Amino acid sequence: MSEQLDAMQRASRTQFDRQAACYGSGHILRDVSDVGAALDAIETAKLTPALDVATGAGHTAVYLAGRGIEVTAADISEGMLAETGKLAKERGLRIETRQHTAEQLPYEDGSFGLVACRVAAHHFASVRDFLREAFRVLRPGGWLLVIDGAAPDDAPRAEEWLHRVEKLRDPSHGRFLSASAWRLLAEETGFRVSECKTRPFKQPDLEWYFRTAGTSEENRRQVLELVAGAPEEARRVLGIAEEDGKIVWWWPRLTLLAQRPEVAKSARET
Ligand SMILES: C[S@@+](CC[C@H](N)C(=O)[O-])C[C@H]1O[C@@H](n2cnc3c(N)ncnc32)[C@H](O)[C@@H]1O
Repeated sequence: MSEQLDAMQRASRTQFDRQAACYGSGHILRDVSDVGAALDAIETAKLTPALDVATGAGHTAVYLAGRGIEVTAADISEGMLAETGKLAKERGLRIETRQHTAEQLPYEDGSFGLVACRVAAHHFASVRDFLREAFRVLRPGGWLLVIDGAAPDDAPRAEEWLHRVEKLRDPSHGRFLSASAWRLLAEETGFRVSECKTRPFKQPDLEWYFRTAGTSEENRRQVLELVAGAPEEARRVLGIAEEDGKIVWWWPRLTLLAQRPEVAKSARET
């Protein structure tokens, strides 16, 4: 990777290189029904070739390749790209892997029919730069799919609680944006938004979530304190509860599906 990394990008690379082995087949991200639900209605030919930004262990990239889409899977972390390579091999799929940041995409303008980015944008140093680059590398008519944890709308105490928990669990966490902030940023970039909404997504076990991120003992202790003292708004909005001895809660999970508009035909062509 030739580009200089800023502090947030370095933190992500360190975190995910260290934890890469935890993101494979036992991870909740292997269930890609959210990706399928967003993209199933779009013809495969319109989505190919695709770029999966911040591919992690490659669950989204493997779904796309399984649909017959030519896929480039990119990530800042070499360790995660190695996991993607393993998963693709296991499934007998060909996926090209590239190491680079989400904020600077090393491709020509108009190279892709789809840019996907799932459960990663909250780590980015600049979501605005990512959207600008995604727009540039999509051909006119190409699709953008972003799936990510989101900040609950109109619930500042729940948002602050969630932010503190996520940051303690994994210091490379940046901040979740609300669905309305995502829509605004996408539209400002030039995208035409066809879907932008959140659905509740269950986080099924806080202890598993700690292990996946390699959370330090001290930070685990602080998160457990935050859970015990969670404000009423956070309990209600995020559904914090204990089930069979496990602490569970519900992320608002965003699906943003948007399109780079087709170039308008000039009067003479029509
Ligand atoms: C939870 S994983 C992604 C999961 C994956 N997209 C999937 O569908 O299973 C988050 C990924 O974001 C990557 N990442 C974080 N910040 C990044 C950045 N600025 N540029 C590129 N990748 C980044 C991490 O290395 C990590 O692999």
